[in-house]
Amino acid sequence: MSNQDARFATEPYLRHIMLDYRQMAEFVKDPFVVAKADGIRFWDVHGKEYLDGLAGIFTVNVGYNNPRVLAAVTEQLKTLPFNPPMHGTNPRAVELAGLLAEVTPGDLHTARLVDRGSEANEAAFKIVRQYHRQTGNPGKFKILSRYLSYHGATAATMSAGGVGYRKTLYEPAGIGYLHTYPPYCYRCPYEKTYPSCEVFCARTLRQMIEWEDPRSIAAIIVEPISNTGGIVTPPMEYLKILRQLCDEFNILLIFDEIITGFGRTGAMFAADTFGVVPDILCCGKGMSSGYAPLAAAILREPIARVFWGEPGTEFAHGHTYAGNPVACAAGLASIREIVERKLPDNARRVGAHLVQQLDAKLRPLGVVGDIRGKGLMIGVELVQDPVTGAPFPAEQKFGLKVGRRCLDHGLLLRFDPHWVAFGPALIVTEADVEKMVDILGQSIREVLREL
Ligand SMILES: Cc1ncc(COP(=O)(O)O)c(C=O)c1O
Repeated sequence: MSNQDARFATEPYLRHIMLDYRQMAEFVKDPFVVAKADGIRFWDVHGKEYLDGLAGIFTVNVGYNNPRVLAAVTEQLKTLPFNPPMHGTNPRAVELAGLLAEVTPGDLHTARLVDRGSEANEAAFKIVRQYHRQTGNPGKFKILSRYLSYHGATAATMSAGGVGYRKTLYEPAGIGYLHTYPPYCYRCPYEKTYPSCEVFCARTLRQMIEWEDPRSIAAIIVEPISNTGGIVTPPMEYLKILRQLCDEFNILLIFDEIITGFGRTGAMFAADTFGVVPDILCCGKGMSSGYAPLAAAILREPIARVFWGEPGTEFAHGHTYAGNPVACAAGLASIREIVERKLPDNARRVGAHLVQQLDAKLRPLGVVGDIRGKGLMIGVELVQDPVTGAPFPAEQKFGLKVGRRCLDHGLLLRFDPHWVAFGPALIVTEADVEKMVDILGQSIREVLREL
């Protein structure tokens, strides 16, 4: 990296940019500007080294600087960087759609390629409405989702999202977005306990659907495991119950697998982990491992069939970069790496070791309420009292302080006032996660001493 880059971490340059969820006046006091990466490590513009416990943001599944993906992208840039999207497609896009049909479960066989996760979910919302119109149910338009969920930053996906503070500044949101409680067993919103609850949070949806009127509901969208609420992980039966309700009421089930796809949960998709095939599977992030923007909404055959036939039944939707050949080349190489190197197996094995390490090394610190997740998507809920589950007072921002301390010690994690999460590249080793847990433990101890 060039020393020249250090100037881009100074206020005069940063005055010209607005970052995600950042108050820039705060950011410029201690800017975090990344310059270079390799494997599971990256370096900031000052040359400081970090372990990336989050694969950027659950994205770089094959790790940074992967030779196969680099070669594929470079070759494609030289051969065909772009094709006219209104007139046709390119070989890499068709090849990628075929590979997706192979690696997804069931008959999820037709991919609508897009550029990012929000677009995949937003395309899915339009597809379900059009599907119902074209199959004689024009009244079905409502989208049911859950509190604490995140489905993207665009207007429709924001409306489906279930985190208030990400919406209130921009509301009113779209019409026809309904929300239910998530399967957050550690703090059950229904004040029930699993398994005696018999997964009430899923079963109660029947009542909601009936009262709302099933003739008005187009789809249910869920993240099989939800990041935003702190790696909220449902009981194994939960998604099966949703599948049954959707079948019974002719509601399409959408899995937002933007994070959980491509090996993250220890199988290729969370649909495999939980043994449930959705009608539409939306994926992104790990699909290209972040080497180029790439995402997809993948449809089961009966859904795709409704868009194949008479003029006027096609999907009336387009993006300049959808199915871009360079992004698709990155996707093909990344997915082949994940499959051929059996990275989902590594995610399962190292993920189990990570949980064991967290349990052994962090529980004795007296602030671990819950450890949850699957594969290499693991969250730790931090509490003031693990016996009662009493959280730290919000104003203490305990988790944020811990996360910042981790960064000081060269570890990137996802952090929130009440939890931290791991989502490293799927190439991570047992020794790597041990080091990460040690840094997290040290950071917690330091923050506890300063309370
Ligand atoms: C579960 C989930 N869905 C959708 C999105 C939106 O994806 P993108 O940021 O690529 O638009 C994200 C992004 O973090 C996500 O985590």
